[in-house]
Amino acid sequence: MQKHYKRSLLFTINVVAAATLGIGSAMGAGFPTLDGSKPVVVGHRGAPGYLPDHTLEGYRTAIAMGADFIEPDLVLTKDGVLIARHEPVLTDTTNVRSLPKYADRKRKAIIDSIEYDGWFASDFTLAEIKELRAVQPRAPRSTKFDGAFEIPTFQEVIDLAKSESKRLGRTISIYPETKHPTWHRSIGLPLEERLLSVLNAAGYTSKASPVIIQSFEIGNLKLMRPMTSVRLVQLLSAYDNDINTGTAYYLPNDPDSAPWDWIASGDKRNYGDMLTPAGLAEIARYADGIGPWKRQILGVKGLDTNGDGKADDVNGDGSINEADGVSNVFSTVIADAHKAGLVVHPYTFRDDVPMARDYAKDPAMEYRQLYALGVDGLFTDFPDTAVRARESMAQGLWPAIEYTVTGSERYYRTAQAAELAVVASNKVGTWTQTADSYYVWAAAADRAGSAPVCRVFNTNGNRHRYSIVAAECAAWKQEAGGIDEGVAFYALPYAGSACPSGTRAIDRLRITVAGLVYERHLGTASEATALVAKGWAKVGVAYCAAQ
Ligand code: G3P
Ligand code: CA
Repeated sequence: MQKHYKRSLLFTINVVAAATLGIGSAMGAGFPTLDGSKPVVVGHRGAPGYLPDHTLEGYRTAIAMGADFIEPDLVLTKDGVLIARHEPVLTDTTNVRSLPKYADRKRKAIIDSIEYDGWFASDFTLAEIKELRAVQPRAPRSTKFDGAFEIPTFQEVIDLAKSESKRLGRTISIYPETKHPTWHRSIGLPLEERLLSVLNAAGYTSKASPVIIQSFEIGNLKLMRPMTSVRLVQLLSAYDNDINTGTAYYLPNDPDSAPWDWIASGDKRNYGDMLTPAGLAEIARYADGIGPWKRQILGVKGLDTNGDGKADDVNGDGSINEADGVSNVFSTVIADAHKAGLVVHPYTFRDDVPMARDYAKDPAMEYRQLYALGVDGLFTDFPDTAVRARESMAQGLWPAIEYTVTGSERYYRTAQAAELAVVASNKVGTWTQTADSYYVWAAAADRAGSAPVCRVFNTNGNRHRYSIVAAECAAWKQEAGGIDEGVAFYALPYAGSACPSGTRAIDRLRITVAGLVYERHLGTASEATALVAKGWAKVGVAYCAAQ
């Protein structure tokens, strides 16, 4: 179990104590956000998939990629200046360890029960911070730009957002996070007053201002609520995703499992308690939204292929991780938060981590799934992928498509209905439409005990094919011009067996997905027979007819 990997303070050495649209399309369909607007894309720490975290160049890249918000995490220098760093510890996000003049600043410190041995922003003046350069902390991302960029102040981030807004003619908002507020206050460097002072000076004073303040703690959000009218977001976290159950879980006194100010005061509640309807109602008294870890909405559940009741190393890479599992929508957090009037902005989306098998190694599928579930925005290290996925949904997916009803087949009448049904049934896929055809294909990865079904259908009627063979689907995808969108249907195994004696399989197979019935017309009776022999149907009933 890798602790703190979601929002890790780097260079941990010891845990000391016992253990956060109206797209009104042409057809009127929209994203299911709280207010119907498009979900916002937040450049998490800038665009760290490409450039080191928290640099003006990284923020500028995120903006160029279409991000609506840029996110500076905030810590304080010795002389009380807000700078953008993920943590007070400078060790892994700057080149400080390679500068002999600062070798003697290395020391140990305990932050929220974790002991660190390194260099701390609060031991450096801003002038000294400006001598440092940012480095890429996450392997295997490119280190090509290590040492190239300065550490920005919060003021410089605001200045960039304002100048880019003017240059581009669209509002670039900021999403500052107060890092370790209780700890900062304990060393005589409280964050909140300084933050609000800088925002006030920038003219960011109202709910409509292009800023949202976020915190994993509660007390400092409540402190700031009467001091400002800008939007506040309560961050939430969990200890980890349980790969065996596909749900988030929490540990006592763990700083990922509960707000540090609660732990410090002996409060035994955790972030899970805050996600109940009662907990969300309480948050709504002081905040405008929540920023949950994405696994508090949607887990990843491993596959038990050997029947021992535990997730297995399905891909044989020596570890059991998300790449061995499938997505598992287990919570009603989004709907519950929306009922409480709260927006939902989960974190953190990354293209370059092991992905659940049902995403078929395509990060766009993860974004689409969350957008379809109704998130109001999300934090991503790859803003370009998040924006592309959103815009393709806005332009090609959500607009109602009049699917043709052919013979006895039943289709969703709208792409939205198809998508939601697929999501609701925890299957994977998306619909799209080209000029005269749509393409339905199977994701490369099968679900346990299931197999993909794909379909190519041309509305002119000259192509209409089905397959359960992933390779064939892939070939058709090529043939269709590389269109890579569609619904992947996964049928469950047939509970029965081959056709009873004296009957034969006929050339149809009925498949039910999310309560809706699809009928597959097979090319030949032998194909149907082969399907039945493979154990297919039931949800999916293979028809058997008299010989
Ligand atoms: O603030 C949302 C997200 O950024 C929380 O994670 O650790 O990257 O700040 P972290
Ligand atoms: Ca953050």
